[in-house]
Amino acid sequence: MTTIMERANALLIEFEQNATSMEKVTPETVEELRIHWLGKKGIVTRLFEDMRHVPNEEKRDAGKSMNVLKTSIEASLEVLKSKAADSVFHSILNRAPLDITLPSQKDTLKGALHPITLMQQKLLKEFRQHGFTVYDGPETDFDFYNFTALNLPADHPARDMQDTFHLKTNQDIMVLRTQTSNIQIHAMLQEKPPLRIVAPGRVYRVDSDQTHTPIFHQIEGLVVDKKISFADLKGMIQSMLHSIYGASAKTRFRPSYFPFVEPGAEVDMQCTHCQGEGCKICKNTGWLEIGGCGMVHPNVFEAVSYDSEEYTGFAFGFGLDRMAMLNWQLPDLRQLFEGDADFQSQFSVFAEGAPC
Ligand code: DAH
Repeated sequence: MTTIMERANALLIEFEQNATSMEKVTPETVEELRIHWLGKKGIVTRLFEDMRHVPNEEKRDAGKSMNVLKTSIEASLEVLKSKAADSVFHSILNRAPLDITLPSQKDTLKGALHPITLMQQKLLKEFRQHGFTVYDGPETDFDFYNFTALNLPADHPARDMQDTFHLKTNQDIMVLRTQTSNIQIHAMLQEKPPLRIVAPGRVYRVDSDQTHTPIFHQIEGLVVDKKISFADLKGMIQSMLHSIYGASAKTRFRPSYFPFVEPGAEVDMQCTHCQGEGCKICKNTGWLEIGGCGMVHPNVFEAVSYDSEEYTGFAFGFGLDRMAMLNWQLPDLRQLFEGDADFQSQFSVFAEGAPC
């Protein structure tokens, strides 16, 4: 009678023959071979079951040769597996070459301007018609422009409302701007009054929850001239909002505090989702805050050496993301930042043409 040891040695030879005579080495044929030899009902598994009939004194040697058989088969199968993977790879390479420069045959994903860009274009068009000049300014700015010159000295408690990202520099303190209001200072230091500017852009704050994102967008406005009054400010903002949202859009001004204006106000728009009835988006108030405004504070004029006895001015800052959300009745602000191509492609119909 042959011993287990002899059978194991013979099986190893048989396996090697099986392996070398394989017609095709593919992931499927290698798997078949594995199941045949090492599977639950495979040859090696059954041989292990026979171990119980081996007399005790032979068990040790028999076990050893069984393990040699099993590990040798496993090692050979690994080699075969990688051969099979190579052959798959080569067959892919040998297929007709793929020309990635050909235009897509699918017409499903049309490019479209982002809703924030569209909203910005609408606003700039509107403001240009009112004689405003479009200004651009740095997103990384000195503390002076973002805070100090805007009547927010270093120890001012209102700085806490706009916690930001500070940058390490050798010289002055630099921050990622928390508001586009920094452009007010840049513009006034560059230009003599009278002045009428708008400045759209990205702003940053250490803020992240359902209704706040660490990056968002604003549009700033500044008008400086002789005899500018709060009535001018209100008229300008209302006319702008009516032309964006339609003549029936309702707005309201609430007194509020911003260090760079006095008096200051917050501007609310009636919620376009529920027409003021109250819903989840407006937290059942019927209104959504879209920005702030006010009459330029004399300390700001002083910081840029404008004569506050001779000139007055108004300023405003609106959230572009909020305004886009209201315009297209988006249920969630975060949709604007997800980069979902399907969401985005819906806006192709709103393109106005020339970028601003
Ligand atoms: N910069 C303010 C903010 O981000 C918004 C703002 C309020 C801008 C009043 C203004 C203004 O120009 O007058 O919260």
